[in-house]
Amino acid sequence: MKAAILGFGTVGVGVYEMLQAAPGLDVGLVFVRPGKDDAPFKTSELDRILSDPTIDAVVEVMGGVEPAYSYVSACLMAGKHVVSSNKALVAAHGLELEALAREKGVGFLFSAACGGAIPFLHNLALAVESDRIVSVGGILNGTTNFMLDAMQTDGSQYADVLRQAQQLGYAEADPSADVSGLDALRKIMLACAVAWGKLPVEGLLHEGIESLTAEDVAHFMGKGLVCRLLASASISENGKLCAFVQPMLFPAGAPETSVKKNFNLAKYHGVNSGDILLMGQGAGRYPTASAVLRDLSDIRSGRRAMFPAGLAAACADNAEVLCRYYVRTERKAAALFPFAEIEDDNVVVRGVTKPVSVKLMHETASRLRKDGMPIFFAALED
Ligand code: HSE
Repeated sequence: MKAAILGFGTVGVGVYEMLQAAPGLDVGLVFVRPGKDDAPFKTSELDRILSDPTIDAVVEVMGGVEPAYSYVSACLMAGKHVVSSNKALVAAHGLELEALAREKGVGFLFSAACGGAIPFLHNLALAVESDRIVSVGGILNGTTNFMLDAMQTDGSQYADVLRQAQQLGYAEADPSADVSGLDALRKIMLACAVAWGKLPVEGLLHEGIESLTAEDVAHFMGKGLVCRLLASASISENGKLCAFVQPMLFPAGAPETSVKKNFNLAKYHGVNSGDILLMGQGAGRYPTASAVLRDLSDIRSGRRAMFPAGLAAACADNAEVLCRYYVRTERKAAALFPFAEIEDDNVVVRGVTKPVSVKLMHETASRLRKDGMPIFFAALED
């Protein structure tokens, strides 16, 4: 099977190199921006790929929603299988792309879009065929895990470790998607869609690590806690879905505390299987490229879809999920939170709340920030 590649950035170069050595897979043209087609294997004319009958599949590793959506649609229309690592694209247009792929009878796989090298969506799509999955989630962003690990391990500063994560090719082109939790949110949206055939597009909440300070980290460490950015989603018996991303604090011994550097820990819980935990590199050139090649091999073996048939848009509701939260804010905002324990140094308040709805906590924090008030919060594992 011959695969063309759309995009020649961090992941595209990895896919190009790996395809040269992959048994049963060949590399076709690489699509790049005009002016970047500086070698015979590169082109800036998509038509050369669309009209080439020797190209069976197209790997989309450009990132971003447009022009990726137009190009991927054109490839599916032209009868090419598509493998994508682009979570922004699949979260925004998964419904349309899935419908188009089914109409054309071609494959549309995207396990590289969630969990890097980890075969998370890959296994989840198999698991739903024989078990009822009730929750999905985990540490799904390599950049923030790398940052949190470094800040905790050697006291690194936020800006320095973000720069390192960018240099190592972990971060998105715009790293605000990583640190705000949006990247992990897009990944949990895909996991919900694979697990339940429902792509949540409304009611989603995400809180990242942008407000985290070295002092916060020192404070958690003093209490023997480790901070990680967690994506969580579950479905009730009557089909009500919750999905959100937020920092969480874990005690020593929790599996999340052993997730280091750019690693992810992806989880699902099946009624019969119980907890399944998968750990591996969640970001980076070769880990992500390895997932792209796995999807290509899967297409070669006959798999065509990762989303179940009948995929539909859904609304998440996070009002009834309760968490106890660690909160750091200014004293004048403290009355907004139902603190169970509090440490007050007259200006800054740190404390742990009684159980609070996830929706209420995220909305209160965003209202405070609009008023220029600093706040960091992280849920405690109960
Ligand atoms: N920026 C993403 C991350 C890349 O850090 O997890 C892999 O999806």
